[in-house]
Amino acid sequence: MKLLLVEDEKITRITLANTLKDEGYEVTACETGEKGLQELNKSEFDIVVTDLRLPKISGLEILEQVKKNNPDCKVIVMTAYASVETAVKALKLGAYDYLIKPFSPDKLITTLNHIRNFKQIVDENVKLKQRLGLFKDRKIIGANPQMLKLLETVKAVAKNDYTVLIQGESGTGKELIARALHFYSPRVDEEFVAVNCSAIPDTLLESELFGYEKGAFTGANKTHQGLFERADGGTIFLDDIDDFPLHLQVKLLRVLQEKEITRVGGSNNIKINVRVIVATKTDLKAMVESGKFRQDLFYRLNIIPLKIPPLRERKDDIQLLTEHFFIKNDAKEKIALLNGRLLEKMLNYDWPGNVRELENFIERLIALSDIQGWERELLSALESKPFTQTEESKDEAEKSFPPFNEYIKEKELEIINWALEKARGNISKAAELVQLPRSTFRSKMEKYNIESEE
Ligand SMILES: Nc1ncnc2c1ncn2[C@@H]1O[C@H](COP(=O)(O)OP(=O)(O)OP(=O)(O)O)[C@@H](O)[C@H]1O
Ligand SMILES: [Mg+2]
Repeated sequence: MKLLLVEDEKITRITLANTLKDEGYEVTACETGEKGLQELNKSEFDIVVTDLRLPKISGLEILEQVKKNNPDCKVIVMTAYASVETAVKALKLGAYDYLIKPFSPDKLITTLNHIRNFKQIVDENVKLKQRLGLFKDRKIIGANPQMLKLLETVKAVAKNDYTVLIQGESGTGKELIARALHFYSPRVDEEFVAVNCSAIPDTLLESELFGYEKGAFTGANKTHQGLFERADGGTIFLDDIDDFPLHLQVKLLRVLQEKEITRVGGSNNIKINVRVIVATKTDLKAMVESGKFRQDLFYRLNIIPLKIPPLRERKDDIQLLTEHFFIKNDAKEKIALLNGRLLEKMLNYDWPGNVRELENFIERLIALSDIQGWERELLSALESKPFTQTEESKDEAEKSFPPFNEYIKEKELEIINWALEKARGNISKAAELVQLPRSTFRSKMEKYNIESEE
């Protein structure tokens, strides 16, 4: 713990400083109030021990300054018997305790130990609250044999640092499982950082994940810690890993292999200790086969593969999950509203949105149940196309994709126009931007009848 000692009497200052250092405190000692204030401006202290009567700037002023800037810092004031009144005033201003001079150093140490114990309890309490927050409403429900097996594996692999690849359709509980892996791991008191790779634009993903150095690009006016550094000691969860851009995949591979990162624009290697969990909705292996995902990275990620079955393959869990969501929403008494007709429909429905869809359904039921006609409305939600049909309609959507050549033409035109705009019509520069020889760029412009401004 960092401690600032302000005392103008040389002998007292030196003796106290030495005793406190022996007790393991990191002590900064000053002989005047001015120096004390300077130190307080420079760094944060956990404890300040100050004499009340000092030349010029008094201990009371130091106390006021501390309480204003760092209210968590504890202040102990020392005073001669004659100024006990001032000591009482100090207590009113927020001092933790006062000691009447002369006192034995042991007395100060006892007071400091109280502070240290108190701080430990507060820190532990914060951690406990974090744990509760991590787990609150995050119970994993499942009695289906496949789910039971999955949960057993989760508990077993949580303890070590293996990389886990979670695969499952949308809403099957991938993030829930990732959090459970963190919760059951020795890293539970450290950060769990969830990153949705498909939600961050490709151009930002690198600096978000790995951070950047000051001056790395326009606008980078401060060094910025990336998410990997933030998760140091804890767990990082990379969701939708199938969307991870190819050009950054090598960098991710390096994190897994070497356990170090380099910030954008930096040259230092920074050691990090993070557990990596990734999730995907699509079949990564198929992406490897079609060249959209690096094979070496896939093998590195696929150390422990966990597959969460879609809800339609574990309909025996629907009832348990339903009860759980009523309880989670403080509406236990409304379970009675679930009549046989509704339940039957629920069991026959395929839940393309999986557990999330079921959760939303129950929430709707709770919200609507006081309104007339609620049942009809909910039943109609379960009338929608069963899963197989939605798959077909997905194929339909793919069929309506433009023919390959047309698509390429459109994209080419888009890229050329973009480059010309960026280069303000300068063809050489535009060609350079998209890494094409100038002549090729020119002929493409001619092909699309783009006028040159040169
Ligand atoms: N087995 C389960 N028990 C209790 N709640 C569950 C279970 N599975 C999923 N849920 C709940 O369903 C919702 C969706 O889960 P989650 O966000 O983990 O799914 P996901 O697979 O990450 O979805 P997406 O693919 O859309 O990112 C959450 O509210 C989660 O708490
Ligand atoms: Mg998710």
